[in-house]
Amino acid sequence: MQKNIVLLPGDGIGPEVMKSAKAVLDAISKQFNHTFSYESHDIGGIAVDNHGSPLPPQTIDACKKADAVLLGAVGGPKWDQLPSHLRPERGLLGIRKELDLFANLRPVKGYAKLLHASPLKEEIINGSDLLIVRELTGGLYFGTPSERRDNGNSVVDTLTYTRHEIERIVDKGFKSAQLRRKVLTSVDKANVLESSKLWREVVEEKKADYPDVTVDHVLVDAAAMKLITNPSQFDVIVTENMFGDILSDEASVLTGSLGMLPSASLAENGVGLFEPAHGSAPDIAGLGIANPLAMILSSAFMLRHSFQLEEEANLIESAVEAVIDEGYHTADLQITNGNKVNTAEMTKLVVDYIDSKNK
Ligand code: NAD
Ligand code: IPM
Ligand code: MN
Repeated sequence: MQKNIVLLPGDGIGPEVMKSAKAVLDAISKQFNHTFSYESHDIGGIAVDNHGSPLPPQTIDACKKADAVLLGAVGGPKWDQLPSHLRPERGLLGIRKELDLFANLRPVKGYAKLLHASPLKEEIINGSDLLIVRELTGGLYFGTPSERRDNGNSVVDTLTYTRHEIERIVDKGFKSAQLRRKVLTSVDKANVLESSKLWREVVEEKKADYPDVTVDHVLVDAAAMKLITNPSQFDVIVTENMFGDILSDEASVLTGSLGMLPSASLAENGVGLFEPAHGSAPDIAGLGIANPLAMILSSAFMLRHSFQLEEEANLIESAVEAVIDEGYHTADLQITNGNKVNTAEMTKLVVDYIDSKNK
């Protein structure tokens, strides 16, 4: 299979974990005789430095023409004081909008070996396996540009959702639940927000189309609590952009580290973008100790969702599982009796496992 993949390494640990994903994809393409060609482009802070914009037109063009896009992370203290439209994060929001990536899938699964790496009690995390379906191109992060009023003493952010935007992500939630344990939890704030009332209405209407799925509604504040007190009650959570952003970082605690959480950002038709849930981790950037597994697992999602290469995706996931099972972990995981390795060593362990399965 011949595929063109655009790499957007970005900032901070982005390029470090992207290097790992590429090494793993190289191992896969060698073993299965695929030809993956890569084109790297700037996004985020590096793009501001090199092109004066966090999302240069050539990056957008390349992504639109690609078979799939892999993204590392954007942002960092160097660019934090820039005006809103020049911030690295605008580049990420911009490419999601340009590619209409309305559905962000963030699976959260505890690995047996990592149960004690979480600050939560093992008996609480045990058996948890959930999927957050986050709306990605609407809501507060895409309001009309926030403005300062009253000589800078009052601010406005707007939260808009159309029925169409809600319908398509709710459909994605139901369909994802049908492929899993058929339990959908819709998370909103319908006791306060108009947008959440419309959201809840749409979920209630859609129920009839998916009679095999059990649905309930949970308010976001309660959902945040339930996620870390009884996570195994959840199968699929569908929610709006900002709630999904916050809940997914919270849910990463179940896995022991944000560095374990991959994601797929998908359009209705068209190119997909695959990105870890974590950011550019400026506190550890350049040290070579970042956990590459979220990025590596995101590349497995790319193989599965964009190229239908199920066997190849499964092999990457088995490799990650095997390496973790052997007790290897990066410094972000608080494990007492494991083998602590750096980014390059972790990557090599995953690649070696893949190579060892050479048919
Ligand atoms: P962050 O996710 O970058 O880091 C939070 C904490 O988790 C840090 O202590 C970091 O060291 C740790 N961490 C994250 N990923 C890790 C990994 N793979 N391995 C080991 N440790 C890891 O969030 P933050 O510090 O709030 O944000 C830093 C910058 O990243 C900001 O500019 C923010 O806007 C940006 N950000 C970008 C994305 C993205 O590009 N998708 C996502 C979130 C935050
Ligand atoms: C994420 C990040 C982004 C988001 C930021 C950097 C714009 O936090 O991917 O979770 O909020 O979507
Ligand atoms: Mn986030």
